Amino acid sequence: MQRHLISAADLTRDDAVLILDTAEEMARVADRPIKKLPTLRGRTVVNLFFEDSTRTRISFEAAEKRLSADVINFTAKGSSVSKGESLKDTAQTLEAMGVDAVVIRHGASGAPYRLATSGWIDAHVINAGDGTHQHPTQALLDAFTMRRRLVGRDAGIGQDLSGRRITIVGDVLHSRVARSNVDLLHTLGAEVTLVAPPTLLPVGIGTWPCEVSYDLDSTLTKSDAVMMLRVQRERMNAAFFPTEREYSRRYGLDGERMARMPEHAIVMHPGPMVRGMEITAEVADSDRCTVIEQVTNGVSIRMAVLYLLLGGNEPAVSGARPPVSPHPSSERSAHTPSAAEEK
Ligand code: CP
Repeated sequence: MQRHLISAADLTRDDAVLILDTAEEMARVADRPIKKLPTLRGRTVVNLFFEDSTRTRISFEAAEKRLSADVINFTAKGSSVSKGESLKDTAQTLEAMGVDAVVIRHGASGAPYRLATSGWIDAHVINAGDGTHQHPTQALLDAFTMRRRLVGRDAGIGQDLSGRRITIVGDVLHSRVARSNVDLLHTLGAEVTLVAPPTLLPVGIGTWPCEVSYDLDSTLTKSDAVMMLRVQRERMNAAFFPTEREYSRRYGLDGERMARMPEHAIVMHPGPMVRGMEITAEVADSDRCTVIEQVTNGVSIRMAVLYLLLGGNEPAVSGARPPVSPHPSSERSAHTPSAAEEK
């Protein structure tokens, strides 16, 4: 593992599988009556959010607290950013208070990279979404959800997503989720197809490690997972499709379309969903839709990332081996935390 998590493209196959396997251990902890581990006791993590968030911000906070870290929450709204304070000065101000890791969401692509490489601060940096660039923990929680559903919770340990066919549909142009997922899923051996109107595909899409299609109906029938993307109106400064109705007709997922997917195939969405636009309520509320499961899995993934970046070589869960092996054995089992751990 590198010192920071900036991009899904920086993860090797072994890094990614290690994070997924560690997240399985963390998920077992979450199933217990007492969900806390002492792993990051005495460490301080700041959540630095310059853009709105529900899922990512709250699940990072939950993950940090479950690992017993001290948590500082910073949102740009209501801070001295409104008085013109820069990212550098904001970050250095927070580090002066003794911060070990910074989780950052920023509207500018590249802001987490700048923070990690500028020498402004010494803390670990975790990208919680930057502009249209990357959202690596989203891609990891999506891969975790796919591995659990398509390979199996126990059978998946040590495994990647080789040969699984994943379709990502919608506003790829503005989507850091799509970019991160293509990078990570390719690393994990999956076959990815992007389906979008030509106006919502970025320049240079031909260099991405995936297929591109404009025909959702023909792609659905060959998919193990279909990930619907939100149309990001807030990032649009032009008309990218004629009408919402036309968009939904060509690229929306309704019950009729979902019925044409293979029986085992799942529907995913990173959230927030725009019901009636990219996904109907019938699909969003169906058993095949994993949107709530993805949120739950997000806490386990973020615990795993924080632990692997900050926790050193101590086992995340006492009784389990430290994560020195890229392929932890499936025999690695959960244990009952000691009294000391549960304090
Ligand atoms: N998926 C996601 O990043 O959601 P939030 O914007 O609510 O964090």
